[in-house]
Amino acid sequence: MYNLPFIVSYVFRGNRVEYTDARAASTKTGAYRRGPMDQKLDRNLLEQLRHANHVVVLTGAGMSAESGIPTFRDAQTGMWAKYRPEDLATPEAFQANPQRVWQWYEERRRTVGKARPHAGHLALVRMASVFPRVTIITQNVDGLHQMAGSKRVIELHGNINRSKCSISHRPISSDWLADSDLQPPPSPYVKGGLARPDVVWFGEVLPQGAIDAATNAARTCDFCFSVGTTSLVQPAASLPMHALRHGAPLVEINPQETPLSSQSDQCIRATASQALAGIAAQLDGMR
Ligand code: OAD
Repeated sequence: MYNLPFIVSYVFRGNRVEYTDARAASTKTGAYRRGPMDQKLDRNLLEQLRHANHVVVLTGAGMSAESGIPTFRDAQTGMWAKYRPEDLATPEAFQANPQRVWQWYEERRRTVGKARPHAGHLALVRMASVFPRVTIITQNVDGLHQMAGSKRVIELHGNINRSKCSISHRPISSDWLADSDLQPPPSPYVKGGLARPDVVWFGEVLPQGAIDAATNAARTCDFCFSVGTTSLVQPAASLPMHALRHGAPLVEINPQETPLSSQSDQCIRATASQALAGIAAQLDGMR
């Protein structure tokens, strides 16, 4: 999908959500760190994982795909194949047409409401009982990791099941929303304010606590997985680079190649549920 010589070897510095064209933003490093491509975790990496104290798992839309939630950028099925992000996932879009944006999120909320965690989510819960610390950093807004039972989850892009005031950003309760027939309902706090989903849109700044905690986790972990993300949206895409620079092995789980593939110690070309359940079984087999 991407030309291999172009590698995301830089670390993004801002906290505003931005799409990056990996080919334009990256630099050529020459040597690839491409490891084995089979569907199981390589023996040496498994050994390193077994001794890890802090495992970081960055997840993206591909993590939720097998739960029935469409990704953004997959050709044909991805949401951005049907809609333009600038029409639906920016503050300008909401200002221009709050009703359209609210209704689109309502539709996505219904999809999320029907979704249930899969074997990959459950494998991560199991891993949390094996290692001293497992931190999940997710770009997903569906809450599936928490529903599966994962405890240490950093939500970088917010949560679609919550709403907030478009002006004061204070949380708005579901009871308040249920009392209104308007789409979107008005804010209970500020005259002229509206309810909006508590997610981070393109051009908005990530919650400071979330990005600080995520960056710190990535810098201090001793094993990192990147699961189901195209690694094109910053600053999330830089987090595995922090881990790599601080010496942690990096394993990508994604059926498709991404700009991160060439930086990874191994690319497992399988779905999130297959790969993560497989790794959990490999770990069980070593005990
Ligand atoms: P994308 O839709 O860009 O990428 C999904 C990735 O998941 C692709 O690389 C797929 O190959 C992979 N994939 C698909 N099915 C999979 C499966 N079953 N198992 C594993 N991987 C699979 O989603 P993100 O990278 O998460 O932000 O997108 C990042 C951000 O861009 C989102 O959080 C959202 C979006 O626009 C905002 O809206 C601000």
